[in-house]
Parts: sequence; structure tokens; C-alpha cells
Amino acid sequence: MAFWKPGSERPRILDDEEGGVLFYNAAPASSSGYGHASMEKQRQRLPVFKYRTAILYLVETHATTIVVGETGSGKTTQIPQYLKEAGWAEGGRVIGCTQPRRLAVQSVASRVAEEMGVKLGEEVGYTIRFEDVTTAGVTSIKFLTDGVLLREMMDDPLLMKYSVIMVDEAHERSLSTDILLGLLKKVQKRRPELRVVISSATIEAKTMADFFRGRKRRGSDNDVQGPNTEPAILSVEGRGFNVHVHYLEEPVSDYVRATVSTILSINERERMGDILVFLTGQDDIEAATQMLNDETHHNARKSSGLIILPLYSGLPRGDQDLIFSPTPRGKRKVVLSTNIAETSLTLEGIVYVVDSGFSKQRFYNPVTDIENLVVAPISKASARQRAGRAGRVRPGKCYRLYTEEYFLNEMATEGIPEMQRTNLVSCVIQLKALGIDNILGFDWPASPSPEAMIRALEILYSLGILDDDAKLTSPIGFQVAEIPLDPMVAKMIISSHELGCSEEIITIAAVLSIQSIWASVWGSQKQLDEAKLRFAAAEGDHVTFLNVYKGFLQSGKSSQWCQRNFVNYHAMKKVIEVRDQLKRVALRLGLSLKSCDRDLQVLRKAVTAGFFANACRLEPYSHNGMYKTVRTSQEVYIHPSSVLFRVNPKWIIYHALVSTDRQYARNVISIEPSWLTEIAPHFYNSKERAL
Ligand code: CDP
Ligand code: MG
Repeated sequence: MAFWKPGSERPRILDDEEGGVLFYNAAPASSSGYGHASMEKQRQRLPVFKYRTAILYLVETHATTIVVGETGSGKTTQIPQYLKEAGWAEGGRVIGCTQPRRLAVQSVASRVAEEMGVKLGEEVGYTIRFEDVTTAGVTSIKFLTDGVLLREMMDDPLLMKYSVIMVDEAHERSLSTDILLGLLKKVQKRRPELRVVISSATIEAKTMADFFRGRKRRGSDNDVQGPNTEPAILSVEGRGFNVHVHYLEEPVSDYVRATVSTILSINERERMGDILVFLTGQDDIEAATQMLNDETHHNARKSSGLIILPLYSGLPRGDQDLIFSPTPRGKRKVVLSTNIAETSLTLEGIVYVVDSGFSKQRFYNPVTDIENLVVAPISKASARQRAGRAGRVRPGKCYRLYTEEYFLNEMATEGIPEMQRTNLVSCVIQLKALGIDNILGFDWPASPSPEAMIRALEILYSLGILDDDAKLTSPIGFQVAEIPLDPMVAKMIISSHELGCSEEIITIAAVLSIQSIWASVWGSQKQLDEAKLRFAAAEGDHVTFLNVYKGFLQSGKSSQWCQRNFVNYHAMKKVIEVRDQLKRVALRLGLSLKSCDRDLQVLRKAVTAGFFANACRLEPYSHNGMYKTVRTSQEVYIHPSSVLFRVNPKWIIYHALVSTDRQYARNVISIEPSWLTEIAPHFYNSKERAL
């Protein structure tokens, strides 16, 4: 494969879509070196440094400041430090900086702590779900996910402890970012002294500014002393080099394979410099890693000097560090990443980018009530961001695994905000918990579809979380809102308390919060399947997880045990950690833990109480294991990774769907149909649906 057609040699400006070359501003001579300068020098070389005074002036005088700048210009690591240096953290106040991704939170927090020469968790700290590395009264720069900040607002709706909130990576338009922006706009009306900094890698600044502009104080603007309510926009001039973009002449069908051959051909033909590869998820990344490792055995020359490093969320901390450490002489790093490296992380030394053209995205269809994680084409804006990663240290090259015609004529200009392609159940409950009753009238940066909103209200009503007036029920609704998990999981936990199986259910909830507890076994699928059989339970995956957890505890949490049983040791340690946290949350809510021993029926009922909306029935004459969802008759198949694959019980409930060639149900448990009408009578009207 790989018939490369280089794009036009003529340099063009960034926004010009006809040419094949993206032209980035050439760097001033002084900024090209890196690596040996002192930390302070390095800081001063970053493009934002020139704008330090301007940024501080704008934040001082404006309620909202929007900073736009190329990835790597220093927005995330520098602006919070400038604010602290200018006194925004005095008097015990905190400068908060939100990120859509957990991994980015950890990584930037440790970088900033290092730059400031302090211990992480003291002056500089971070909080992500289930992990709080801050010290009250000491931490003055705090990195956190936007989701965590939303949770903090439940206890502190006006965010009193913060002087400035920097909403970073706003261009990603994650669901939580958009909710947060809507709420911050409200908070500023009540607390004009709160400063908001919105930072973004792309030029969506005008939309953001228009959104925040809609705020006018009652009466004359002059009667209250305070910052200008008109948002300020500052554009940080990037520092970067030309990136030459190459396209495929013909489309390819297998982008993972195409990725691998492109990496090998870069390694053979191009001068030294690291390669950053954009794939869609852990599965792709592992497949590509395996292919590259095989290549090392068969054709050592082609892959000589390659250091293969995967990068995705959920990667153990130790593995993350390798990615940020300098490449040894004579070696070439190949970082295989999800779109996390598109804008939220900066890697030094990247000269070549390989762009598969895809990413994993969540799509929700309110008509079928099905939410799917699908591999979907990226937008032009993302493609440009990805290419830009190649031009940080010297002129670079970007290999796009699609044709130029496709880029020009078929790729969407911008991505769709998550708000408009996701299920809104957790969004609604969060707003309700914050006392926002008129959700349809809420001021969103991008309006969600009314159908999705109505579906969310309907399901929350049948879960017993909202009452007839669409207010949170007491205690269930309030308890669910307190649990930092999907409302369906939270409802399952609360029901398990009444059913007497909360010990088991919180273990299950902890496992479900983790991508997979099985070891990754590209190429040794058969052994994994055999290992799974040792734990497999006829009831389904949830009970199987319990068996694995018990085995792990009995082994004394041994890593050898994990290895023998194809269980991922790091994942199990995470399960134990999350379980501890959930136990604490449950106890705080007054839910004492009870074990059902071997009474698996109550356990399955508790799962049903949370996930009844995901019930499916095996098609009566199906020979290929086809199910249909009870509510909307969508075709679903049990995922091959499930212990119920090929077992095909008549009635099942799934935890999530993934869609490839078909809709596959992952993490499945068998149920009795009578439970549906018993547990969710509003949702399943038995007469109508003849269960
Ligand atoms: O937020 P933005 O993309 O504008 O840049 P940043 O994340 O603040 O990164 C600025 C610089 O800090 C990068 O160019 C890297 O040199 C460095 N950095 C690093 O070395 N390690 C990190 N974990 C984060 C940033
Ligand atoms: Mg950043």
C-alpha cells in the first residue's frame, strides 16, 4: 500500500483548503532549541510569554477572557502560573483549570508542579473522579476535569473558593465543558468578581464570545464597580514550522495496517524524528503495536530503532512517563495515540504525524434510545490540529491515510458538540441537582435536541429519580445525584441496598467503570477465552466479574495470579481503589453494605433496577443470536467478549453497546422478563408490549 502523493509544494496559509500544504508561522530563531535550557528559560520561550502582561491585564479588567492559541503555545501550563504570580491565589483563593480529559489533568499538573519546584499535591494539585491530589488551604493552582468541577458546584454553587476558573480545551466542546460554560455564565451574574478564562486551540472564539456577551447586568453598567462584562479575545501567535501534508492516492480499507506500513516506510526513508500516530482506541492501538512487534521479529531492519509507545486514557502512570521522556540517541519514538494527543497533550520531538482520519465518538439516537461508541471520520479542524503536531521542533510531515479529494469534499468542517450527540441523562440530573428546573430554557452554548431531552426526562422518571413535576425525588434522586457515576449505575447501587446485595453490586459497579479487566492478548485470544471459562457464570458477565474479584482477593492481590489468569493486574488494582471510593460514597449516603452471598437472583434484580431500559429479547427463530431491544426493536447481538456469547439466553440486559458491523452488547446479564414490569411498570406497560 502507501502510494503517497505529496500535496502541492507551494506553502499556503492555514485556512486555505485547496492546497496540500499547511503553512504554519515559522519560528523565530531563538525558539528552535529545546531540552537543555533551564526551566525558567524554557518558560520564557513559550509563545504565551510575550502575552503575559496582556493576559493579566485582560483578566484584571474583564469578567471573561478568551485565549486562542496553537497547541503547545503554553496556555495550560503558563496561564495558571501567571495568575498566581499576579496575586490571584492570595487570601486562600484557588485558581482552577479544567480539562475534558483525566489523563491531561494528571500530566499538566505534574508538569506545572515541576516548573514551580513544588511537590505535586501541595501548591499545585489535581482532582479527577476517584482521585484527589490536593491539600485544602495549601493548593492554590488546581487542575481538574470539567466533570469534577460540576460536582463541586453541588456543594458550592457559586464556586466561592475560586478566584479564577480557566476552562481549557473549550474547542473540544465536551458535554461537561458546555454545561460548565452555561453555569459559569449564571454564576458570574451573582458573583461578578469571579473571572473566567476560556482557552481554546481553534478559532471558535467568536461563538464563545457571543455566548458570554448575552449577559447584561440590570440597570446601568456603570452603577456597580466591577470588571467589563464584554468578553475579551486574545489570540496567541503560534510558534511552529511548515508541515508538509501527504495524502493517499487511493482510499484504504484497513487503516490499522496502513498505519503500520506508513510507520515502517517513514522509518526506512526519513531522517530521525519521532512519529505520532492517531488511531481510535485501545483496541486499534494494541493491534498496531502487535503488528509492529511482529515486524521486529521478521524484518528487523525496517523497524530498527523504533520505540513503540501506546497512549490512551486508562494507561498506567508509569507508561505515561516514558512518552514524555526524551528519545535516546539513534532511536525513534512511535507514539500510538487516541485523539488525546490532538490538543490536550504536547509531546516534544514529533516530526512525523500519521493520521488515520478516524476517532471514536459517541452518538446517541433519541428515536431508538441507543447510544453507541463508533469509529467515525474526524473533522477538518481535527485533521489540521493533528497535522500541526508535526511542526513543533522543525519542519515536519503529516501522512493522511485518506485522499485529498476526501479531505476537501467530504470531511465536515467542524465536529459536532458532544451535547448534540449524546444521551442527556446525566446532564439533566446534574442540572436538577444544582436547582436548575427549567432545563429546556437553560442557556446552552449549543442547544441539545428536544427529543433527547424528553427521552432523558422520561428515563429519569421511570428510574424514580424525577417526580411528576420533574423535580429530584427524595431520597433516591438526591442520592443518585451524589454518586459520581452514570445515573443508571447509581440507581443500581441504591436498589442493591434495599435488595441486600450492595457488597456485590459496588464491586460490579467498580469493574464496569473500568474499560476492561482482562489482559490484552492480541494473538492469544484462545488462551484468554479459556481463562475466562474458569470464571464464567451462567448468569452473565456481571457475575463473572464477581468471580474474578473474589479470585484476586483470595490470591492476596497477586500479580502472578493475574498473569496466569489473563487478568489485567493494573485494572484490578484500580477496581479495588474505585470500590473503596464507592464504599465511602455509599456509607455517606447512609447505604450500609450488605452481602447476598450466593443469592444471584437479587443481584440480577438490582442490575435490572438500574438498566431495565437496556433489556433485549432473543428473536424467537433467530439462528444467529439476534436480539431486539424491548422498547424500540433495534437489532443487537451479544459481543464476542461476553461470557454469554453463543449461550444466548432468552432475555438479557446489557451495560453498553458498541457498534462495528453490527450493534454489539457488551457486559450482559440474563434476566426474567417479569422483573421488567415489576421494577419499571411505567416504562414497560405489560399489556401493550405483551411481555
Ligand atoms: O496548553 P498549550 O497546548 O498551549 O501548551 P502547554 O500544554 O502549556 O505546553 C507548553 C509546553 O510545556 C510544551 O511545549 C512542552 O514543552 C511543555 N510541557 C511538557 O514538557 N510536559 C507536559 N506534560 C506539558 C507541557
Ligand atoms: Mg493545553
